[in-house]
Amino acid sequence: MADVYTNPEKHVVLHNSVKMPILGLGTSHDGGYSHEAVVYALKICGYRHIDTAKRYGCETYIAEAVKASGVPREEIFLATKCWPTDYGTTATRDAFNGSCQRLASEYLDMYLLHWPDVPSRVKDKKQLLQDTWRTLEVLLDEERVRVIGISNFLEQHLEMIMEECSVIPHVNQCEFHPYNNPKKLRDYCTERNIQFEGYCPLANGQILNEPKIQEIAGIHGKSPAQVLIRWNLQKRVVCIPKSTKEHRVRENSEVYDFVLTKEDMAVLDSLPQKLTIMNPSAIQAKIDNPLPDGYKLTFVKTPVEP
Ligand SMILES: NC(=O)c1ccc[n+]([C@@H]2O[C@H](COP(=O)([O-])OP(=O)(O)OC[C@H]3O[C@@H](n4cnc5c(N)ncnc54)[C@H](OP(=O)(O)O)[C@@H]3O)[C@@H](O)[C@H]2O)c1
Repeated sequence: MADVYTNPEKHVVLHNSVKMPILGLGTSHDGGYSHEAVVYALKICGYRHIDTAKRYGCETYIAEAVKASGVPREEIFLATKCWPTDYGTTATRDAFNGSCQRLASEYLDMYLLHWPDVPSRVKDKKQLLQDTWRTLEVLLDEERVRVIGISNFLEQHLEMIMEECSVIPHVNQCEFHPYNNPKKLRDYCTERNIQFEGYCPLANGQILNEPKIQEIAGIHGKSPAQVLIRWNLQKRVVCIPKSTKEHRVRENSEVYDFVLTKEDMAVLDSLPQKLTIMNPSAIQAKIDNPLPDGYKLTFVKTPVEP
């Protein structure tokens, strides 16, 4: 077994004592899905954390990849997300069961509410979010899921949940890279024992040409992607880079053999806040839009058919 759960550098401990691997593999319907890359990540590179979402439409394929990797299910921290059209007591439980079924697992390691937005027709947003959160708490209590959290929640959204909750969210997954570093939100989460998890750690590839990052990479003999992942790890931010290419999946995992200096960290911390990959204002239309889950999903190389 990979040393992910025994080496304290390679995991974070959540407020319910669950160990969450600090480095995971992202998947999504943007930029393609590769069965081979997921199998390679698990089997060869020692990844033990996979991030997905019902919305991405690839849960079934991930189950196939987990099976093909030969890595025991219980070694893998499997995280997926509930799309806002599935918010509500019964709908969320149904969505959870659907994800479990597609992922071929009786339980999930982590279940997140994907966005704080809800369908426009909903009159009482706060009530819906609170009812949905309560459903996650019940699933936690029933031991169907080990960790519950939210994604893309800002302070005001977290307040709505925490006003009524009995379990403080374990994790908040938000966009995070040097061009989008929400320091106040991270501090807010840290003060409440909510683990911050960053998505788009490579800014979807759009930050890799940044000269200051390239300079730091050159000094350490590492790639810009490795510098960005290392920046996350040294901040103890859970990081889920995605790649459909085996050599990059490997590159993104080779981040434990160098350390960024205080000066490197300060340079990365001071880059201009100039890029948002996931524009929150575009999400409402997507929630109200009847496009099916995985509508953008394409396959890189041949996937194993479910
Ligand atoms: N909660 C949310 O709302 C939300 C939103 C967005 C993303 N996410 C999660 O976060 C994960 C990561 O985000 P992301 O996929 O948008 O962006 P990302 O990980 O920042 O970047 C992925 C892009 O970078 C390229 N890449 C990966 N490794 C590279 C390397 N070593 N060198 C050069 N290029 C490299 C990939 O291309 P190739 O495939 O060609 O290598 C891909 O185009 C997603 O997969 C998903 O799990 C969550």
